[in-house]
Amino acid sequence: MNIIVTGLLAAEVSTTSAEVAEPSSLNLLLWIAFPYVAIATIIVGLVWRYRYDKFGWTTRSSQSYENKIMHVASPLFHYGIIAVFFGHILGLMIPETWTEAIGLDEHTYHMLTLPLSLIAGAATLIGLIMLIFRRRTTAQVFQRTTKNDKVMYVFLGAAILLGVFTSWAASGIFDDGHNYREDVAVWFRSILIFQPQPEAMASAPAYFQIHAVAGMLLFCIWPFTRLVHVFSVPLQYLMRPYVVYRKKSPHRSGNRTTRRGWEPTRTD
Ligand code: HEM
Repeated sequence: MNIIVTGLLAAEVSTTSAEVAEPSSLNLLLWIAFPYVAIATIIVGLVWRYRYDKFGWTTRSSQSYENKIMHVASPLFHYGIIAVFFGHILGLMIPETWTEAIGLDEHTYHMLTLPLSLIAGAATLIGLIMLIFRRRTTAQVFQRTTKNDKVMYVFLGAAILLGVFTSWAASGIFDDGHNYREDVAVWFRSILIFQPQPEAMASAPAYFQIHAVAGMLLFCIWPFTRLVHVFSVPLQYLMRPYVVYRKKSPHRSGNRTTRRGWEPTRTD
């Protein structure tokens, strides 16, 4: 266990903390208190929502009102955001030292992940823009859009837009770029293992900090929005037996008398 913890915090932390002064109160608030408040809110909030609003736990699908744009926008957004999710796991959870240990130097790592990251980010953003356009321009869908949905779109849109900007900026499109695996990722893991390193995040460029705050704000509202559907992926559908639909033929019922309520309906 200790080896894993040491590995997760990795050597780069000691260099980071040695170079940076004591974090200010704002940094302590943003990079220790806020992350734990966000984690607690999402866990407690989901339990609360499930207990008190089990039947409201839904995507509130609007597919029956409009399917043409939805047919393209929804897969684009969902496949994009799933790829972004796995990108976050890879980038934030796997220490630089581990990829170096298997012979992948930092330059090669970024050359391999950059194209995937840019494609995933672009797909998510374009998908989201199309979904919002559809929601605004299809009257039936817009009528069924609640205040809660609008607030959710603002928070989700902000996290995604800032994320894509962060990804571009980190890749060096605007300047020399930045290796977030040496500060943001170190801070992120330090929170998860309850050994917070606020100074690691405090020394990261502002665009990473703003994106992380937007991400944590989204976590705080998550349980109270339709985003709860993310936690109800119907995985049992892959394993359950098929539901067999058969036409009831009059020749199949044999001599049995028809039970009350099961009389065949006329279809002609
Ligand atoms: C504390 C929470 C979060 C942290 C520390 C974080 C950190 C990061 C980092 C370091 C990147 C740059 C990745 C790269 O260049 O490859 C990134 C990109 C991104 N993030 Fe986050 N993020 C967080 C939460 C979120 C949330 C909640 C969302 C949206 C639901 C989100 C959406 C994105 C998107 C869309 C990108 C662009 C990815 C790409 O271009 O492939 N992030 N994030």
